Amino acid sequence: MDALEAIMTTRAIRRFTDEPVSDDAVWTCLRAAQQAPSGGNVQPTRYLVVTDPEVRAEVGKLYRRAFTKYTEIAPPLKDDAVGTRVRQSANHLADTLASVPVIVFFLMPRLPSLVEGIDIGPVHASVYPAVQNFCLAARALGLGTTLTTVIRVHQAETLELLGVPDKWEIAAMVPLGHPAEKFSVAKRRDVSRLTSFNRWS
Ligand SMILES: Cc1cc2nc3c(=O)[nH]c(=O)nc-3n(C[C@H](O)[C@H](O)[C@H](O)COP(=O)(O)O)c2cc1C
Repeated sequence: MDALEAIMTTRAIRRFTDEPVSDDAVWTCLRAAQQAPSGGNVQPTRYLVVTDPEVRAEVGKLYRRAFTKYTEIAPPLKDDAVGTRVRQSANHLADTLASVPVIVFFLMPRLPSLVEGIDIGPVHASVYPAVQNFCLAARALGLGTTLTTVIRVHQAETLELLGVPDKWEIAAMVPLGHPAEKFSVAKRRDVSRLTSFNRWS
């Protein structure tokens, strides 16, 4: 698939079919993730791939609880068509996460900086490029993903469930599966109104 087409049509997919995802596909996406840039080429990301239905069920419960808490606190989405679609779609994922065939956790070290004593950017700046590479590779294979972070509301319980040592935290949780909805170009703010050249304007 053309790289630009993959970029333009990679968006939040939260409805999946029951079709399993092959190990080959998972490894292709992980290899793409690992090719991402990182500060000082430190490559800090760790990947935890959950496929076991029992573990998925437990993660699903934690995500449902986290998402409910989030909706109680976050400002409500607009009542227009886009707001309604996102609300329904996000709720659907929270209700069905356990049935998504693959759930990938992107973990990052709890450190103030990747290189001690110098600010080369926040640690997560060297992790999210890997997450996006993963999502783009999945799109190229016809698989859907959504970058999610709400599980962090119950981060401690999630890390304990997965046996992750305390020195790691969750940067993102990405469900991966065959999409039950169409890929499309998402509507965004006009970049020409957000860009200036040579001087801020
Ligand atoms: C940092 C970050 C955190 C996000 N967390 C969640 C989440 O916890 N749950 C969820 O359903 N979507 C989550 N999203 C997905 C956004 O809702 C989505 O990217 C946005 O609505 C645009 O969707 P679209 O590309 O389909 O237009 C997150 C996205 C980002 C970048």
